[in-house]
Amino acid sequence: MLNLRLDHSGVDISATLTSLSDYTAHLQAVRSSGGYEALEASLNLPFDDQLLERVKALASEKVSPQLKYTVVVGIGGSNLGTKAVYDALLGYHDLLEPSRFPKMLFAETTDPEVLASLNSLLATLTQPEELLLVVISKSGGTTETLANFEILTAPLRDRFGSAATDRVVTITDDGSKFMQAAEAAGIAHLGMPAKVGGRYSVLAAVGLFPLLSVGLNVDQLRHGARSLMDSCLSGDNIAAKSAAALALNQADGRTINDNFFFHPELESLGKWYRQLMGESVGKQRNLDDQIVYAGITPTVSLGSTDLHSVGQLYLGGPKDKFSTFISSTKSVDITVPAGRTFPDLVPMISGKSAAAIMTAILDGTKIAYQKAGRPFMEITLDALDEQSIGAFLQFKMLEMMYLGRLLNVNSFDQPSVESYKIETKRLLQA
Ligand code: PA5
Repeated sequence: MLNLRLDHSGVDISATLTSLSDYTAHLQAVRSSGGYEALEASLNLPFDDQLLERVKALASEKVSPQLKYTVVVGIGGSNLGTKAVYDALLGYHDLLEPSRFPKMLFAETTDPEVLASLNSLLATLTQPEELLLVVISKSGGTTETLANFEILTAPLRDRFGSAATDRVVTITDDGSKFMQAAEAAGIAHLGMPAKVGGRYSVLAAVGLFPLLSVGLNVDQLRHGARSLMDSCLSGDNIAAKSAAALALNQADGRTINDNFFFHPELESLGKWYRQLMGESVGKQRNLDDQIVYAGITPTVSLGSTDLHSVGQLYLGGPKDKFSTFISSTKSVDITVPAGRTFPDLVPMISGKSAAAIMTAILDGTKIAYQKAGRPFMEITLDALDEQSIGAFLQFKMLEMMYLGRLLNVNSFDQPSVESYKIETKRLLQA
């Protein structure tokens, strides 16, 4: 499903790995509990069959062959995981497959032009069943999400009346004010456990419901996550290993972790990881309440595209980066024909598959990194499917728990995000 190689990571992780064994025992206990009380509660999501039943039951009520668009209204932890999986498996190809439905659309920030375009598109729908509006907010108090919900639903109500209400599903903390308000308005809702933070929630209803609504196989997504977790917590702990490599590289001054995805459709997966790492370990204070300004800055690059933009910087610029190359071993068969229009230009590509060319580019890049003294680790997915993506998501969420432990910070809070939300509301009130 997923392999990790640390041969060129530039660090010896053995002692650091040993230091994490207590924490592994704690994570095993969290897993055995099966409950949602611990900070690491998200580990139990892919094993929660009642959760899956609730999601499937609501999907069977709301999703029909008429569905054309699932619009996810949410931001940050409430939509990045869903977008990561959707774009990896379907969304990146949306433009090239205009007649494939249902499609997923996203209302994230309050960009007026994007919202106006969305409303124009929704105005073309002829019946309410063509749309599902999934409004996701853990807190129920995020300005962008609530503003977008109102902007998108007002014209729908004008056209379809109370039938528009039936096309809305809200996902929020169990028992929250938002859930109570949805209940009072007769809007369907799914809950999430309070201890599961937004950036760890892709395997909660937050991700499962919208992904299921567009036909993705959430059973396989969960299966991939479960297998990865089982193998990490009771065998080869690649999550702890990569956390150790990241922490040791950071200690050596490589404070940027560039995630180089050799599949453009994984860009959103990179952005999901950027939030996961940014919010989890970017902290002013450590667990001893000392001011430390901790963090590793996550960046996302796409192979081979970005070799033609930032490759020069990465190979020739400051030695402040530790890179992660992410690729997949399986791909479709498409080949440069042997009989070419320009046989004398780059002659060595004749008859070669696109995958073989990409592999040569990746291998060439790794050799160039080694020669330039730039450390990296490698993650290889067996395929680009629900199972492998589920494994990757779980691998990274687990890695982040270990990394927080190594950097002595709380991987589960985000006090500085809250401060911008408070200031925004203050300004809007004026
Ligand atoms: O991780 C986080 O806490 C944030 O990025 C939130 O996910 C984001 O601000 C959205 O918050 P909410 O889901 O409460 O609307």
